[in-house]
Amino acid sequence: MACVLVIEETIMKKALLLILAICSLALFSFDQSDDLASSVARGKSVYETYCTSCHMAEGEGVEGVFPPLARTGRLADKATLVKAVLQGISGPITVSGKSYDMEMAPIALSDEETRDVLNYVRNSWGNKGPVVTLDEVKKLKAGK
Ligand code: HEC
Repeated sequence: MACVLVIEETIMKKALLLILAICSLALFSFDQSDDLASSVARGKSVYETYCTSCHMAEGEGVEGVFPPLARTGRLADKATLVKAVLQGISGPITVSGKSYDMEMAPIALSDEETRDVLNYVRNSWGNKGPVVTLDEVKKLKAGK
């Protein structure tokens, strides 16, 4: 009888540990906070899915065709960035001394993905910028 109780107790402990582990994993993967480091980490995969094909893995772009995003000094204005990604951009621009005149079609990202990808590009490859929050994205999208 005592033996059965001991076994039951260890099984219970294991089950509890398992539940705890699953819960912390779930919390981790559903972390949608504005914390810069976690947003940048999520933004990397958004970038790889939606942007790398043109702006390239190191944000270096393709000269004369797709402008670079790395160290251009042009990613400071949050309103311009949100608009560029969600509404697209066209017309002549000069980036790091080179001319570009192509078109970038709008990219259908969620507000969370928009925040994360912008935090990623603003904080990668030598770029450094203050956090973009979900609230800011929502307001800028609404034109506020
Ligand atoms: C199909 C190719 C393509 C994809 C995919 C693409 N872009 Fe672009 N992007 C362009 C082109 C082309 C321009 C320049 C448009 C112009 O000449 O006016 C541009 C311009 C930009 C600019 C403005 C750069 C500046 O210095 O003014 C930003 C910011 C930008 N893209 C971000 C992104 C992000 C973030 C993603 C992914 C969510 C993305 N782009 C995906 C082609 C692309």
